[in-house]
This record gives sequence, structure tokens and C-alpha cells, in this order.
Amino acid sequence: MKVIRGLRGPDKYVSSKYHYDERGSQLFEEITELEEYYLTRTEHAMLEELIPALISELRPATLVELGAGSAEKSRIILSAMIAAREHAVFVPVDVSGDFLRGTAEALRAEYDSLDVYPVVADILDPIALDEALPHPMCLALLGSTLGNFETPHDVGLLRHVSAAMAVDDRFLLGVDLCAGPEKSVDRVEAAYNDSRGTTAQFSLNLLSVLNESFGSDFDLDGFHHRSKYNRELSRIETSLVSLREQVVRFPDEDPIFIAEGEAIRSEISAKYDRRTVEHLFSGAGLVVDQWMTDPDELYALVLGRLSDG
Ligand code: SAH
Ligand code: AVI
Repeated sequence: MKVIRGLRGPDKYVSSKYHYDERGSQLFEEITELEEYYLTRTEHAMLEELIPALISELRPATLVELGAGSAEKSRIILSAMIAAREHAVFVPVDVSGDFLRGTAEALRAEYDSLDVYPVVADILDPIALDEALPHPMCLALLGSTLGNFETPHDVGLLRHVSAAMAVDDRFLLGVDLCAGPEKSVDRVEAAYNDSRGTTAQFSLNLLSVLNESFGSDFDLDGFHHRSKYNRELSRIETSLVSLREQVVRFPDEDPIFIAEGEAIRSEISAKYDRRTVEHLFSGAGLVVDQWMTDPDELYALVLGRLSDG
């Protein structure tokens, strides 16, 4: 079992996609409303300011959003698309199936002129789009979700994006920016160590998902959440740290021994600057068309297109 391989070695890790069952998706929604979590409201404000002009120029007929979640911010794009063309198609892609179906139903109820075709899939896999979808298309990856994927998975994801694009299509990427003179490490770390403990619940929920999905017996009271900014790699590293020596069992597998203080890495949240995005894009056949930041330089929206387009 792939998930167990990550727990056997000395550097234990679990794929961050296991955060997102129905409860995990709900906890993430709560995170987006926390005072300390500046990412969502900053991106939201930027989209409200920039999207109407961008969409009226590009006039996309289809929005394909990877890791769409509740599609709260997508509504800004969808409303602008409908204003420009009177009708739009939305393809939200997400691994959290029940939550995604709820999102699709809510959108159908809200918009008369929108066709919604949800796709339950892992966004690290190649993107299989229906050839009948109308172009031009906008593919979007918002919320700095790219930062949850380690290299080479991030480059692989971007390659799949570019493989799904035609010359007139565009890629809209939202990324959280690195800590620096204008943005303290404390501010970034606080976003992942909120005072209400919602992020800790989100992290620990990963162990519940493993118990539910794979029949393991993780004791959630035996771990605590830790998020720290790694300055060298410009990323938040989140782990579940064992509070005691313990043994975890999966059915039909040898037991896993975890020492007191030993960490299981549960998530990375990479932070970016223009140079790193350009580098990632160039490895995936994409170029940066527009680089837009908020006035406090916390966050960036990037518009990409095919490099040979
Ligand atoms: N785009 C939304 C949600 C971000 S949360 C926003 O900006 O607020 C990250 C989303 O990506 C979740 O909905 C989660 O279910 C989804 N996700 C995480 N890993 C995934 C994977 N490997 N494949 C598909 N979806 C994934
Ligand atoms: C979805 N993703 C970009 C979030 C992040 O910031 O890495 C998930 C998250 N983890 C803890 N808080 C939010």
C-alpha cells in the first residue's frame, strides 16, 4: 500500500490529499475565514479587482478549475464569464467527491446560464477533458494549492495543464509569496498556527481519514500539529509529532513503530516569487503573461499561456 511506504522509513510522510474528506474540506473552509489566514481574502480581493477586465478581454467559454473545493472565489470568474458571453461552462476538478458534488449542486441553483460538469480526480494525474468543451478555456489553480505539491509533482501538474491547453487558452494561477522584508516569517507561520486551533484540527483530521480509508488505528490524541517556515526552501512544513512512543497498525501489515517526538510530515505549503514561478512554467512549456500582486505584496495572481503559442 502506497500510503504505508511513506510511514515505514525514518522520514515519515503522508500525501496531503488525504486531508480532504467531507470534514477536512469543511475545516479548510473554516481556515479560509480565520483572521490569521490572509491567503484567501487577499486572493479574493485581487480577483474582484482584476477579473472583470481580464475576462472581458479573454472571453473564455469554459473554466476548468483544479482543486476547486467550494468554488467560492470561482464565482467571481464565472459571473464575469456570463457577463461577457451570456453563458459559461464550469468543470471543477477535485479529489473530495461528496464535497465537490455539493459545490456543483449549489452552483446550478445559483446560475441559470451555467453548465457544471464536476470531475472527481487526482489533479496530479493527466487532465482528461471532454473534447466537446468550448474554447477559449481558462484553466485555474487558485488558493496556492500548487504549493502543496513537492517537485517534481508540481512540474508534472503544470505539464498536464499545458498539455490540456490550446493556443488561445490561458492558465490562472494563485500563489502565496515568500516571506521577505515586507512579509515577516511570523505572519506566514501564524497563518498555519491559528489561535483557535482550526489548522491543528485540519491536520489531525488526516489521521482520521487514514483510519477510515485504510483501517489503521492512529490515536489522534497521540499527536500534535507543528507548522514551521523553512527559510531555505521558502515553505511551510507541517508535521504531526508523536507525543509518545507508539505502535500503529494497518490491517495485514507489519506494525509501524513511532518514537516520542518523531514527526510525520503531513503537508508542505511552498511560497513563491516571480523567478520561481517563471522557472516552474518554463519546465512545463508555459510563460508568464501577467504577474499581479496585491499592494502589500502578500500574494500573486499569474496569467500563463503556452510558450510556443
Ligand atoms: N481552490 C479552493 C480550495 C483550495 S483547498 C480555494 O482556493 O479556496 C485545496 C483543494 O484541492 C481541496 O478542495 C482539495 O480537496 C483539493 N485537492 C488537494 N489535493 C488534491 C489532489 N491531489 N487532487 C485533486 N484535488 C486535490
Ligand atoms: C489548500 N492549501 C493551499 C492550503 C495551504 O495553505 O497550504 C491548505 C492549508 N493547510 C493548512 N492551512 C491551509
